[in-house]
Amino acid sequence: MATIIDGKRISTEIKDELREKVAKLKEQGITGALAVIQVGADPASCVYVRNKKRACEYIGIESLSYELPETTTEKELLDLIDKLNADDHVKGILVQLPLPSHIDENAVIKSIAPSKDVDGFHPENVGALFIGQPGYVSCTPAGVIQLLKRSQISIEGKNCVIMGRSNIVGKPMAALMLRENATVTVTHSRTISLQEICKQADILIVAIGKKEFVDASYVKEGAVVIDVGMHRDENNKLCGDVKYAEVEPVASAITPVPGGVGPMTIAMLMNNCVESMER
Ligand code: GUN
Repeated sequence: MATIIDGKRISTEIKDELREKVAKLKEQGITGALAVIQVGADPASCVYVRNKKRACEYIGIESLSYELPETTTEKELLDLIDKLNADDHVKGILVQLPLPSHIDENAVIKSIAPSKDVDGFHPENVGALFIGQPGYVSCTPAGVIQLLKRSQISIEGKNCVIMGRSNIVGKPMAALMLRENATVTVTHSRTISLQEICKQADILIVAIGKKEFVDASYVKEGAVVIDVGMHRDENNKLCGDVKYAEVEPVASAITPVPGGVGPMTIAMLMNNCVESMER
């Protein structure tokens, strides 16, 4: 029987800590807002954006909502970001991804002032992470580190295999695990002998975006399994990248979907917002 890593509980713990910090900042006259920009009405993005605004309300920071039509031009979006960059009350700017295909995502990310890039996607923040300097860290991988630490799972010296090499999860996850002194392997769609490599992992972090791809044959007895995936199964129920029922008996600890990594992403976004207010 694996320990179930309760992301819902841990994220609430973090948000409660942040709520106290925000109240103290307010007493010192320090306030600020998070600008949340959504272009179009992708259903998944609508859910994420709604949850982010709710989290702002919970910890006591203002959120400014920009819901722009699908037809918004890149120039219009960049002009809005310029305006928010210059507004001292705005402490964080979040542009929900994906953007419609006529907008260059990289140009948009680069246009956000690095000091307000609470998503940690700007090349300056990504670079800072890789050379061990202060900056904003991408929220999902930062959330995984908190899940491990707050579950008393030691990372130092452990063999960590990360499945997936995306800019948002896999790559920053590798940098963070390295910073925690793990021995890190990153696998991807071209990896040869994938199962054998994964089976060496003490900590297996799965972020491949493939529904229930990882079965027990990928997992060493007693490994810690972190599932970053989020999908709907044939019964419209949420599930992850890992075949939970099959892997759970093999693992020593595992994150469920939902209620594992998902809530942590938003908690860490709130953490970055509070950090920005403190700066
Ligand atoms: N789309 C999927 N994940 C994320 C995220 O962490 N931040 C933003 N801005 N968009 C996303």
